[in-house]
Amino acid sequence: MAGSDGRSPLTISAIKADVGSIGGHTQPSAEMLKVASDMVAAQRGKLLIDSRVTHTGDDICLLMTHRQGIEAEAIHRLAYDIFLAAGSVAERQGLYGAKQDLLKSEFSGNIQGMGPGVAEMEIVERPAEPFMVLTADKTEPGAFNLLLYLTFCDPMYCGGLLLSPDVGKGFTFKIVDVNHTEAEREITLHAPEDLYDLAALLRDTGRFVVKSIHSRAHPDEQAASLSTTRLKNIAGRYVGKDDPVAIVRTQKIFPATEEFGLAFSKVPYVAGDCRGSHNMPLAPVPLNTDSSIFYCLPMVAAAGYSVKDGILAGPVDLFKNPVWEVFLEQAVRKGAEMRAQGFFNPAMLGMEELEYGGIMERLKALDRRFVLNGARDGERARPASASGRKAPGQGRAR
Ligand code: 13P
Ligand code: MG
Ligand code: MG
Repeated sequence: MAGSDGRSPLTISAIKADVGSIGGHTQPSAEMLKVASDMVAAQRGKLLIDSRVTHTGDDICLLMTHRQGIEAEAIHRLAYDIFLAAGSVAERQGLYGAKQDLLKSEFSGNIQGMGPGVAEMEIVERPAEPFMVLTADKTEPGAFNLLLYLTFCDPMYCGGLLLSPDVGKGFTFKIVDVNHTEAEREITLHAPEDLYDLAALLRDTGRFVVKSIHSRAHPDEQAASLSTTRLKNIAGRYVGKDDPVAIVRTQKIFPATEEFGLAFSKVPYVAGDCRGSHNMPLAPVPLNTDSSIFYCLPMVAAAGYSVKDGILAGPVDLFKNPVWEVFLEQAVRKGAEMRAQGFFNPAMLGMEELEYGGIMERLKALDRRFVLNGARDGERARPASASGRKAPGQGRAR
């Protein structure tokens, strides 16, 4: 890919990981952030053109611009080394969950699949190139499904679909089935004609996750890139939520930055929260917000940037404006309503999402104590599971 003026394309990489936090799953220490900032800064003018380091809750996000392309080993190794170094600081400080998201000890060329969330995009810079980096904590990649569906598909939320001929031509979505672990199982759907198919998949936020969105008016132009990591699929056990990151280009042929606001103001219920096991609203928060003791409400920060020749301007902290205090309050109220019913569905996630959690031990033990009543003549009551009938936790909890 090269620009019409022959300039080499720019890669924007946003790589995010939780490698330790103070006093629980709250936020990284200043010392960890300093190590990360120093290490990216040392690469400016070498491997990197520019960089920013932010955190959302306990996750550190490295934003890097460079010309190495997506999935470049040198960039991924740098991110891995930074997380390793920040994780070692966390270990030295006795912080919680040190190196939590570094699920593999040996770097093997690509940080994807090792734990950290990766969103990368190779672009040819427009004369003005605005984009956002969305960083969420205490939730999963599917948490962005509704926000992206509403903004890229529904003129009730994004007037640009009617007002801009380019935006109105619609968008191409690539969606990944994150339950399929042998290979990346992916489908391509087009808005608007595939709208109901898109809706049918995207509603299942634990399974189908938007990976990328492209313009249909300009098919080479990518609007969004998202991380789709499922930590439990890598680790085989619960090791924290998947806390996604996304890069979203805005304006002109894409929805305007402000056209995303209405979707975020819905503060939708998403999976995540304490122990990654609850449904709670996604709260819009300023950058570098710690995760709250109030059942660690899922949260999302939005950083607005412009980039020219790889040099970043920003971030503008898009949810810091006082307007967002209203919606943050709504999220807290919705969350309090949900928390009022404790562990009863749908406050706690359904069994299919808890299958790697400790509750399964309890259900397995209980399974042995179930009996079948109404046994046929001559048959004695026996454990229900031995009959082949599904025991609690084996099927979908309804
Ligand atoms: P993180 O995924 O942000 O580490 O949170 C894990 C958790 O279980 C919080 O209760
Ligand atoms: Mg954590
Ligand atoms: Mg986190």
